[in-house]
Amino acid sequence: MCASNQDVVNRSDVVIIAVRPQDRHEALTGLRVDDGKIVVSLMGGVANDDLRRTLATAAPLVRAIPLPAIHERRSVTVTCPSHPVVDALFEPLGGVLPVADEAAFNVFSALTATLTSHYWYLATLTSWATGHGMAPEDADRYVRGLFQGVGRSLSDESRPLDRLAAAHETPNGLNHRIRTTWFDQANSDALRAALDALLADLR
Ligand SMILES: NC(=O)c1ccc[n+]([C@@H]2O[C@H](COP(=O)([O-])OP(=O)(O)OC[C@H]3O[C@@H](n4cnc5c(N)ncnc54)[C@H](OP(=O)(O)O)[C@@H]3O)[C@@H](O)[C@H]2O)c1
Repeated sequence: MCASNQDVVNRSDVVIIAVRPQDRHEALTGLRVDDGKIVVSLMGGVANDDLRRTLATAAPLVRAIPLPAIHERRSVTVTCPSHPVVDALFEPLGGVLPVADEAAFNVFSALTATLTSHYWYLATLTSWATGHGMAPEDADRYVRGLFQGVGRSLSDESRPLDRLAAAHETPNGLNHRIRTTWFDQANSDALRAALDALLADLR
């Protein structure tokens, strides 16, 4: 254990900042970070210019988005700007995707904001089945099994996602019916609009 955040910085070559964005001033103001250190910021929605003003350092600042799957070394971690030391840190943890600028970084950030909606989609399917009298544990087990199969099929990178979808769909069949009646143009446009609004806030 270190006595202070300054003590942590002094003992580190690479400083990882993972406090919540709203805590950053309390955690970072007044810290001295030598120009020879490397700072990795995991804070969502905090631009590097903003962080540089807070830290008042010329050290390289790199933003990164490690995903929960980093626990299993399966996170493709977006970094910006690319830095050999930081990219080498994340490479063995599932791979690294360095992007050219923060505009690109924000697009990937917005994508990460869709994770819990995906879980809620699955929870909604389960609750729909429960509403039709299925035992909750049966509905839960079935929906998990259904989508674990989808998860596995995603490792087939030889086909683009729309082709993967087509491969699971019979024309005019049951999947086609739900996709075209529920995930219709209006639904798709609403999702794009929500992502656009988030992206505008991240800029
Ligand atoms: N880009 C993305 O998609 C994405 C996704 C998830 C998370 N994130 C980012 O990852 C970061 C961490 O998220 P989290 O969910 O892990 O948050 P969290 O669980 O709330 O952890 C925040 C940490 O900051 C520490 N902290 C707060 N104030 C501090 C201070 N003054 N000095 C030292 N440490 C302080 C807390 O310490 P205590 O436990 O001692 O209070 C805690 O360990 C956040 O910046 C979040 O925006 C980004």
